[in-house]
Amino acid sequence: MNKEILDIIKDTNDKKSQKPKAGVVTFGCQQNEADSERIKGMLVSMGYEIVDADMAGDISGSYGQFDENGTESPFGSCDVIIMNTCAVREHAELKAFSRTGQLKHYKNKNKDLLIGLCGCMVEQDHVLDYLKKSFHHVDFIFGTRSIHKFPEIFYDTLVNKKKVLKNENIEEDIIDEDLPVRRDSSFKAWVSIMYGCNNFCSYCVVPHVRGRERNRNKDKILDEIQKLISSGYKEITLLGQNVNSYKDPVDPNYNFADLLTDIVKTDGDYWVRFITSHPKDVSDRLITLMGENEKIANHFHLPVQAGSNRILKLMNRGYTREDYLELIEKLKKHVKDIAIASDIIVGFPSETNEEFEETLDIIEKAGFDNIFPFIYSKRKNTPAEKMEDKISRKEKTDRFARLMAIQKIISEKKNKAYVGKTVKILVESEAKHNNDDEKKYLAGRTSTHKLVIFEGNIDLIGSFVNVKINEGKLHGLYGEIEKN
Ligand code: 5AD
Ligand code: SF4
Repeated sequence: MNKEILDIIKDTNDKKSQKPKAGVVTFGCQQNEADSERIKGMLVSMGYEIVDADMAGDISGSYGQFDENGTESPFGSCDVIIMNTCAVREHAELKAFSRTGQLKHYKNKNKDLLIGLCGCMVEQDHVLDYLKKSFHHVDFIFGTRSIHKFPEIFYDTLVNKKKVLKNENIEEDIIDEDLPVRRDSSFKAWVSIMYGCNNFCSYCVVPHVRGRERNRNKDKILDEIQKLISSGYKEITLLGQNVNSYKDPVDPNYNFADLLTDIVKTDGDYWVRFITSHPKDVSDRLITLMGENEKIANHFHLPVQAGSNRILKLMNRGYTREDYLELIEKLKKHVKDIAIASDIIVGFPSETNEEFEETLDIIEKAGFDNIFPFIYSKRKNTPAEKMEDKISRKEKTDRFARLMAIQKIISEKKNKAYVGKTVKILVESEAKHNNDDEKKYLAGRTSTHKLVIFEGNIDLIGSFVNVKINEGKLHGLYGEIEKN
């Protein structure tokens, strides 16, 4: 990152009577959330005030939505708006295009507004061609591998008045450790430990848009985490597209289990989470470590994607259903009360009804606490793009509904099993609730990542409390703070 450019822009902005404003809209995964915090960090270092609002949410009434002319939206007063996009499914891309289209009204009102797009979508040439053709109000782009170049690109647009709509000079191997970060939370922190992915699952665009695996130096990671914990952070989530394949770049014998072992040596009251893991890279040491150490959250996000061996092979997942179920058994045996979540793809090309039923079967056998189901979405330049996709839309949505119906029963049963127990909760926010009473309700999460709603004072946000669970419903647990 070019620090001089940050300073030049800051000097100019500091002379203005009012601090200019910037908004960053984040679509997609936690890696994007973490990238956005770096982008916001650079914007703050350039003298911008960050406008906090969730603009990626559904257009139908969510807080911070774009309105027709930008007068009522918190982003209406921005001098720069950046959309950090996701390309994993078509739906995410359409949403980002639609939100970007709406920004035209803002530009019509304020000709000096600068609009940028970054993230996975703009790492694709066909997207850039479409932007150039149809989105003339977009001023600059930068890809996932060029975040450290943002100040230079922004300078070209802001000062040199150039449009930057090319993704040039991607430096695949660069991990810039010096990017400033402006964290959204004062008690929950994302810590990226690796970038990119080498797995090339046949349906997935990620290796194409985020590049090959690059690992951060272990000392840099440990240093960042120690600082976060000593400044009061209560939850650290390690991030990586294939987080458990982590290896230190200097000492490749130092792996993910070694890193976790070193992280939890830090004193303090905190949890460590990690997402997302690949089943083929779950080591026995990692499982033992999770069973032994309370600082490692009791939650494993372990995408299975499908339950049929033929489909798993076509997906290039590198394991069979038997391997996966064996792994789940091991986890349940060694990690008491572990909660397991999974991602499922429905309607992968050529999936038969019988093969889909094997997915239903694996869901029941594994007994997931929660799943993230997706209808298969064809992605450009992936091997699955060339596979014949004859399953009708209706068949796919029917399968999706059948999957959800089964998972609902399992999730509800899992949540009901908490009734009568007292659990440690990290209090996250005020809760939305429909009760007519005047009481204040809070929302928090267990180590197993269950949502818990209970009555309490907002001062508790950001701290751990013990809650006795009285009710378990499909989407969460309800309880009361245990008085000491
Ligand atoms: N279609 C549908 N779902 C997908 N995912 C990744 N690529 C696709 C695709 N082309 C899902 C996988 C992955 C999650 C992040 O997104 O389940 O685990
Ligand atoms: Fe995509 Fe597979 Fe890599 Fe996950 S592991 S990011 S699904 S290629």
